[in-house]
Amino acid sequence: MEQTYVMIKPDGVARGLMGEILSRIEKKGLKIAAMKLAVMEESKAKEHYAEHAARPFFPGLVEFITSAPSLSLIVEGKDAIKIMRALNGATKPAEAAFGTIRGDFAMDTGRNIVHASDSPEAAAREIKIHFGNDKILSYKRSVDAYLY
Ligand code: PPS
Repeated sequence: MEQTYVMIKPDGVARGLMGEILSRIEKKGLKIAAMKLAVMEESKAKEHYAEHAARPFFPGLVEFITSAPSLSLIVEGKDAIKIMRALNGATKPAEAAFGTIRGDFAMDTGRNIVHASDSPEAAAREIKIHFGNDKILSYKRSVDAYLY
């Protein structure tokens, strides 16, 4: 099964949207394989968003991401990367369709509630940054027999 990295950003946690977002992920049929609530270290935030280091919003993005707790997830399932991106909706909330997390709850690109890896390479890189050598639980859900 494919794995992807998902982050509920500090705005999503502070606005009390963790349960709503986790519920959407689970109801779709994706499996939450790992979960960590923490204030992200600055070095990890910089590494995570390294491809945007030269963009003008980078310092503000790092400051925001490290300002308060965020929830890091490993989400698993068939086509988990594409499905998670679809659940999140477009990066810019004004372009995100209603029914998506950003379309329903976000107003601004800098406060767009969630992040999800955009490719298998990004997923592997981001899971390594945020979960490193952590032991990831392996568990079965009876619902999987009805999903696949
Ligand atoms: S994309 O898809 O790479 O073209 O999107 P982009 O607009 O370049 O944004 C990349 C990530 O940076 C975040 N972002 C911002 N954060 C804070 N403040 C401002 N102004 C801002 N502009 C863009 C944007 O939400 C993307 O974050 P992720 O976590 O990847 O969705």
